[in-house]
Amino acid sequence: MTESKTIAVVSATGAQGGGLVRAILEDPSSGFTVPAITRDTSSEKAKELARLGAELVAADISDEADLEKAFEGAHAAFCVTFSWAHFSPGKEMAEARNMAKATSAARRSKRGRRREGTRCRQWARVAVGSTKAS
Ligand SMILES: NC(=O)c1ccc[n+]([C@@H]2O[C@H](COP(=O)([O-])OP(=O)(O)OC[C@H]3O[C@@H](n4cnc5c(N)ncnc54)[C@H](OP(=O)(O)O)[C@@H]3O)[C@@H](O)[C@H]2O)c1
Repeated sequence: MTESKTIAVVSATGAQGGGLVRAILEDPSSGFTVPAITRDTSSEKAKELARLGAELVAADISDEADLEKAFEGAHAAFCVTFSWAHFSPGKEMAEARNMAKATSAARRSKRGRRREGTRCRQWARVAVGSTKAS
């Protein structure tokens, strides 16, 4: 039996990530499942994603440990930053770095188990070169 692969989606309740979450959920034959990342799993938008079949995962991109848990076991991660939330280039860089480090941690963890890595794909707001697609 083919094991499904997961794509962890940051901004799942927003416009960018929400479109990806819905596209994955609407195509069960794709072989992908989707942990939908939100800071508030009890919000109406989050509950709507759960109703559609998403697994809700609580994480804040300012918290690297949160992200490591959220990306654990994922085949890929969809990452965006939200500069308009604070208008701080330094904070945006730190948040992008958190996501890059969390994808690396997930890749190391997966390699240990199955020699298959999580890939970092950063779309939308591309913040730093170190998180470029691999
Ligand atoms: N929409 C577009 O057409 C478009 C086009 C090009 C680029 N972009 C860029 O893409 C990025 C996302 O835009 P969007 O339109 O998808 O925004 P959005 O619709 O406002 O959604 C952003 C979502 O991100 C989550 N979020 C915000 N801060 C977070 C944090 N600290 N940790 C974890 N999650 C957080 C929020 O989810 P929770 O409240 O559930 O945590 C929110 O639902 C922005 O940088 C934007 O400039 C957007």
